[in-house]
Amino acid sequence: MNTANHDRSASSAPSLNLSGKKLVVVGGKTGIGLGIARAARLSGATVIVASRRIASLEERPDLADFEQVSLDMRDETAVRMAFERIGSFDHLVVTAAPDIGTWGGFMDADMRGVRSYLEGKFLGTWACARYGAPHLRANGSITFLSGGMAARPKIGYAAVTSTFAAVEALSGSLALELAPTRVNTIRPGFVDTDMWSFLPDQAREGLRKKVEETFPSRRAGKAEDIAHAALFLMTNPYVTGTVIEVSGGENLVPSVS
Ligand SMILES: NC(=O)c1ccc[n+]([C@@H]2O[C@H](COP(=O)([O-])OP(=O)(O)OC[C@H]3O[C@@H](n4cnc5c(N)ncnc54)[C@H](OP(=O)(O)O)[C@@H]3O)[C@@H](O)[C@H]2O)c1
Repeated sequence: MNTANHDRSASSAPSLNLSGKKLVVVGGKTGIGLGIARAARLSGATVIVASRRIASLEERPDLADFEQVSLDMRDETAVRMAFERIGSFDHLVVTAAPDIGTWGGFMDADMRGVRSYLEGKFLGTWACARYGAPHLRANGSITFLSGGMAARPKIGYAAVTSTFAAVEALSGSLALELAPTRVNTIRPGFVDTDMWSFLPDQAREGLRKKVEETFPSRRAGKAEDIAHAALFLMTNPYVTGTVIEVSGGENLVPSVS
């Protein structure tokens, strides 16, 4: 065996280290986005968290490690201007999403609610990629967030399934069109974040219990689980156009929610 070649390939193995890299996480002040922002910071990156509201450090001392930028992903001009102000960076992650809302089943759906959700999540994700991409440095990446419903429709949630599937399709298209920038999507399962705070405490506890009983992982997902996948996607130079499911095996069992 040629040991010299063997050693060379070993020394270039990708790591999760993000030292010297600059990240923008749209949606990074809460939930999954915050988990990704924290993990990236621990891995050495400078992290900008962007969303509609700027929080004071009295209110959110845990955000002291990050620069905050105000950005409403529904507003194309605001998105363009926010990325112009940010300037060059290495990795874009878009986790933000509007509230799911209550538009009803397909036949009764209030189309305004459907349009608002689709525009917010899908076209908002599109706008972040469109105006973030020109500022990405060489070897950069873009990561989107969809959800298990992209592949497992549920009655009453046609808009969520369609929107998540559209986000996944967009990442494949952009992996080609923006190459060599890498573009991927993470498809999380149930992650116990404030996104679920609309549920009464008892219902939320019941959901957690069902997850612990049925998911092969025997626990609910944490933001850190998704963050680990995000770091992998940012740092592995050979992964693009991929959807990674991180769901504790939710895809293998009947729906719990
Ligand atoms: N948690 C789960 O179980 C789960 C499961 C499947 C899929 N997902 C998907 O994963 C993503 C993140 O979920 P999460 O649990 O982290 O949700 P989350 O904690 O509710 O976070 C949503 C974030 O989006 C930001 N946001 C909302 N509207 C925005 C807008 N118009 N412009 C910019 N930012 C906006 C919010 O910040 P501001 O209020 O400051 O704008 C907030 O930081 C979502 O796309 C969700 O659909 C989550």
